[in-house]
Amino acid sequence: MPKDAVRILVTGAAGQIGYALAPMIARGIMLGPDQPVILHLLDIQPVAESLKGVRMELIDAAFPLLQGILATTDVNEACKGVNIAVMVGGFPCKEGMERRDVMHKNVPIFKAQASALEQHAAPDCKILVVANPANTNALILKEFAPSIPVKNITCLTRLDHNRALSHISERLNVDVRDVKNVIIWGNHSSTQYPDANYAIATTDIGEKSVRELVADDHWIDYEYINSVRERGAEIIKARKLSSALSAASAACDHVHDWIIGTAKGTWVSMGVYSDGSYGIQPDIIYSFPVTCQKGEWSIVQGLKINEFSREKMDTSMKELTREESLAYSCLNQT
Ligand SMILES: NC(=O)c1ccc[n+]([C@@H]2O[C@H](COP(=O)([O-])OP(=O)(O)OC[C@H]3O[C@@H](n4cnc5c(N)ncnc54)[C@H](O)[C@@H]3O)[C@@H](O)[C@H]2O)c1
Repeated sequence: MPKDAVRILVTGAAGQIGYALAPMIARGIMLGPDQPVILHLLDIQPVAESLKGVRMELIDAAFPLLQGILATTDVNEACKGVNIAVMVGGFPCKEGMERRDVMHKNVPIFKAQASALEQHAAPDCKILVVANPANTNALILKEFAPSIPVKNITCLTRLDHNRALSHISERLNVDVRDVKNVIIWGNHSSTQYPDANYAIATTDIGEKSVRELVADDHWIDYEYINSVRERGAEIIKARKLSSALSAASAACDHVHDWIIGTAKGTWVSMGVYSDGSYGIQPDIIYSFPVTCQKGEWSIVQGLKINEFSREKMDTSMKELTREESLAYSCLNQT
């Protein structure tokens, strides 16, 4: 029996990530090669023509899995009946803007989009927030879409997770598929903590701890952490544009693993609603190691946290609580 099509919303669909993401979804990279999809593409009126062009290209690509495209600048129409929402659209951080200014622009956008999802999305809609500040935008979305279960609202730290895997693969000269179980803790910002303490690599001699294989604690504890944290800035410097294809690919990985499941013995990083695990303040969206099964994520429990990690995890948590207050102060001023 052919499967029913899944409706997937992509906001900011005329932007760089949207342009890379829509064809990946239509090719089955997000939900698999036997899952038909209907794309709902949302952007704003000033780029309506460009959005039309994206729609034309998607039609011209004749993707066998793509059963329909709705391209619109009406947020309510865009959210109708969607099963998955990938929230990429937002006001970009321009030169000279401070974090507060970016939040001032984006928090009201997420408040409005939350209300539209609350009213029009499928009741079990799963949401991935990509637009920055991703963790805090997801928290605002949760606040203004109270009927959507908090477990269905997540943010993207998979790009950082994938970078954390690939930097180890380069260092050890092993295939990236042979590295697993890095962790991104915290905020999708420069305070994130890429933690390789539990990372494992498969080599000719079997599965081994990455720390043992690298045999250079200074690299793991300093250079590695900084190189993962700074990769986004490095890409902006090289491309004069922020990461797009890797962000789109990571968004596909995030939703794929959430819905299809993580491989046995493997975890991934996702920004999820904190339940207080590992002493992280409850009720913030924080990146944890998670496993997924049957469309549900669970935080990996029982990992021992040393003092070095504790300090870094707490620093990112504190930044998120500050961002949360700032977001609410932005809302009170609008
Ligand atoms: N979490 C991550 O790992 C990660 C990685 C890369 C980029 N990002 C973030 O993703 C976002 C998008 O990046 P990009 O490079 O595609 O930016 P972009 O500027 O190319 O595209 C953003 C799009 O959003 C649209 N938009 C603005 N307001 C909107 C609204 N109210 N509703 C719908 N669409 C709206 C814009 O018109 C534009 O087309 C940025 O916030 C960026 O910082 C996050």
